[in-house]
Amino acid sequence: QKNCKIPLYVRQTTSPLVVQLRKWYRRVRRDLPWRQTQDPYRIWVSEIMLQQTRVATVVPYYERFLARFPTVDALAAAPEPELLTAWAGLGYYARARNLQRAARVIVERGGFPRDYGAIRELPGVGDYTAAAIASIAFGLPHAVLDGNVARVLSRVFNESGDIRLSATRRRLQHAADELLDRRNPAESNQALMELGATICLPRQPRCAICPIAESCEARRLGVETERPVKARAKETVFLRQTLILIRKRGRILLFKRPPASARMPGFWDVPESGQIPDAVAGALLGTFRHSITNHIYRFEVRSGDVVSVPKGFRWVRESRLDEIPLSTTAKKALLCLKRCTEPRS
Ligand code: ADE
Repeated sequence: QKNCKIPLYVRQTTSPLVVQLRKWYRRVRRDLPWRQTQDPYRIWVSEIMLQQTRVATVVPYYERFLARFPTVDALAAAPEPELLTAWAGLGYYARARNLQRAARVIVERGGFPRDYGAIRELPGVGDYTAAAIASIAFGLPHAVLDGNVARVLSRVFNESGDIRLSATRRRLQHAADELLDRRNPAESNQALMELGATICLPRQPRCAICPIAESCEARRLGVETERPVKARAKETVFLRQTLILIRKRGRILLFKRPPASARMPGFWDVPESGQIPDAVAGALLGTFRHSITNHIYRFEVRSGDVVSVPKGFRWVRESRLDEIPLSTTAKKALLCLKRCTEPRS
């Protein structure tokens, strides 16, 4: 434990740190929709959405999603296009598919699993999400460690190991376990998340108003902005690609991304040049940028023509494009077309 020392007083739930954090959280907690329920289905949906998406973005999606799929049975029975349409915009679509796979497991088993091990086995649920659901929905003593909590703890305990290393994460998980207020794990976990989201910010931590600044070792040493330690990210790769919008009598030629596709499987997309050998690229309609992890694409969108419809492609009426799940790049390409064809005001 040489990089991260947890003082002895922290190992008692009445440590000043835990008391201050609890008092603060009760005063400032945001009134988020998933904090008004104990329904494990609703809490699970919120945690899956929050895995890679910010709170402010999630809130409206969460409300719409639950209005559309109010129960685990409704979600289990949802047709895939409807599911993907409800998720469109949140990104990381494997989450939506896993959500439905898990819903089917839950329905089959006759109810939501009530212990950490069984929750952890659901598709799409990792250590963090299982701990969040177990503690928030069932009050079980499992400490969460997401990016926000890891940042808070690496500062409080001045953890100097690389946050990407599993040994570092293990030490931080240990620290989180020690810090958990076992009388109220739901509140204790969410207090740390809230602190990470609103006070203990990555670049400019608001230490002046932090309720536990007095207990923060990194702050005492003046190294708070140097924690957590993170090895350099992968280099950015710049790429260019051309998309072809082929239109005929109010229809557009699209293809469905194959199930094994790494990006947005099952969504409808605009073909790239080269994807249809006999397609002829025509006038430039516009360009846009799109980034995926460390790749930044510059897409050119061109009109085009084709002799015969290749396998896997379909003509889709332009007036019905909002009825099918479209990939993000297809949406951006169609926006280029719209800008070109709309009369200028
Ligand atoms: N991020 C992940 N889970 C959260 C929750 N329950 N409340 C706020 N932010 C979160």
